Amino acid sequence: MSSISKYNQLAVETSKRVHAERQLSNEKPFKLERSVEEKFPRDYRPGFGVAMEYEKMGNQSVSPGTQRLAKHLNLELEHLGITLGTIVGGFDLKKPLDDPLISCLKQIFLERKVIFFRNQEVNQDQLARFAKYFGELDAFPFGKGNEKNPFVLEIVHGENSPGSENGWHTDVTWMENPSLGSVAQCIELPPYGGDTLFSDSHACYLGMPERLKNEVRDVWGTNDYRLFLKASSYSSLSEKLIHDIKSTFKFGVDHPILRTHPETKKTSLYLNGSFLRSGSLYNKKTGRPLGEEKSTAIVKELLRQHDQPEYSCRFRWEKGSIAFWDNRAVQHFAASDYFPHRRVLRRVTISGDKPYFDPDSDRAYISQTSR
Ligand SMILES: [Fe+2]
Repeated sequence: MSSISKYNQLAVETSKRVHAERQLSNEKPFKLERSVEEKFPRDYRPGFGVAMEYEKMGNQSVSPGTQRLAKHLNLELEHLGITLGTIVGGFDLKKPLDDPLISCLKQIFLERKVIFFRNQEVNQDQLARFAKYFGELDAFPFGKGNEKNPFVLEIVHGENSPGSENGWHTDVTWMENPSLGSVAQCIELPPYGGDTLFSDSHACYLGMPERLKNEVRDVWGTNDYRLFLKASSYSSLSEKLIHDIKSTFKFGVDHPILRTHPETKKTSLYLNGSFLRSGSLYNKKTGRPLGEEKSTAIVKELLRQHDQPEYSCRFRWEKGSIAFWDNRAVQHFAASDYFPHRRVLRRVTISGDKPYFDPDSDRAYISQTSR
């Protein structure tokens, strides 16, 4: 201790005094119990949002029933985040799955919002067969279709097309009934990078300031796919084809900003910053538009919510990795950090239903998980 600097000497002495006084205050019998909310900073709430979502989950990664079933089926679960993301191992997607396994995977998917599998080098039909266990499939009219299976979309990036899915989003909100989930398989990956991040839209809602929750409670917005047609990669399309697309697929569909998950009944923040027309927000109850300025300001604030790292988990792809995410419960973000290398994924989407919002439904989930 002889060579300790003056600064360090003072720092060590001070820390002893600070610790002693804090301990004394913690032992005071009259100290009031603080709520969970009071333990987090008031002006930065993602930690609180995650804690509230975890509480809804019964302060456990998966429910005891699902845990028992997974154990019975010899599934290995590796959780990535406290409220979302689980790598599930112990089965082979090259073979058809039986009903108990499908229902266990569905339950893990609903509880963990996004699940992953490793070393599943399945072909396109096997990938589509897996997705079909969970519903009908949606073909994608704007992507690189696949000759072998029209429901499999190829997402290819390389030296002529840097990754462009690097904004928080939930898939296909331009559809009247947006796909409930997406299944993506890694075909080719860059030497480094190319991860996909997932952010918990339920925790994100719970962590929003009360003011913002109230502001968007009955608010809906208009989603529009015409953005695709404006992108440079679509500039070669003929006017005739663009006209045909517009007359075939409705553009401008309205969805609520807060969405009730149709299966878990939990509330999520639901928007896709690319497809949502920023000035389009209106109050569904009164029919009144929020006005361009307010609408744009709210959308800007909402888009920042998923950005907060506490809500997210990050998945590192390997060849043969598969991710299956719930578009009603998470947003995702594909890091575009690997140019000029190639990254190729295949994606299949599962048909969903029309988004709605029921402000009273959250309570149902609490009683369901406490059983
Ligand atoms: Fe996406």
